[in-house]
Amino acid sequence: MNETLALLQSHRSIRKFTDETIPQEKLEQWIQAGQAAATSSFIQACTVIQVGQGEQRDTLAHLAADQKYVSEAPVFLVFCADMNRHKVACELHDSEMHKGYTEQFLTASLDVGLFAQNVVTAAESEGMGICYIGALRNNIEAVADLLELPELVYPVFGLCIGKPAQNPEVKPRLPLSVVLKQNTYSSEGDKTALADYDEHIQNY
Ligand SMILES: Cc1cc2nc3c(=O)[nH]c(=O)nc-3n(C[C@H](O)[C@H](O)[C@H](O)COP(=O)(O)O)c2cc1C
Repeated sequence: MNETLALLQSHRSIRKFTDETIPQEKLEQWIQAGQAAATSSFIQACTVIQVGQGEQRDTLAHLAADQKYVSEAPVFLVFCADMNRHKVACELHDSEMHKGYTEQFLTASLDVGLFAQNVVTAAESEGMGICYIGALRNNIEAVADLLELPELVYPVFGLCIGKPAQNPEVKPRLPLSVVLKQNTYSSEGDKTALADYDEHIQNY
């Protein structure tokens, strides 16, 4: 297995971090790795808001189901889907943006996921641990207000990054046969495989 494959297979979410600070240049490199991800129609619809430790971060932690690692992580990023920039680009060219399509919601959200996962891989490749925070969407309007998000921008998830202060096991994933199909969606054998997996994950 090459180094990249081994790194990807060793991912596990980290929810306890050391106090070690992360140099801003490092973080910027990881963000640039995020920007290198493929992007639907070259729209680049992801904006990242870095939130420092303190009152604003604590409020975010509270809004995200009081998960204390949101306050504690050396770095906390909020990944936003951003179609506002597209609107601005249209205005620069004296044209009006066509908006309100579900397709735009989907492509912007996908852009965010692809961007963020590149950031995760870059950070993990340098010994960092991460935890996505989808619970930010529990109070999405309050989060949007706190971050002063304009129209057409919404938070998709947060991301804690820091040096791990714990070493949890890798969580076993579904069997390959269940997630990789050949030519058509054949679910033959899935029930047995899922029952086996159920037992396996319970032991984990
Ligand atoms: C979009 C997204 C949102 C998530 N939100 C949270 C969260 O709010 N809190 C948390 O502790 N973990 C969160 N997670 C982490 C998942 O629970 C975790 O990735 C999953 O259980 C698999 O475990 P692993 O990452 O250790 O392999 C989230 C993961 C993703 C991809």
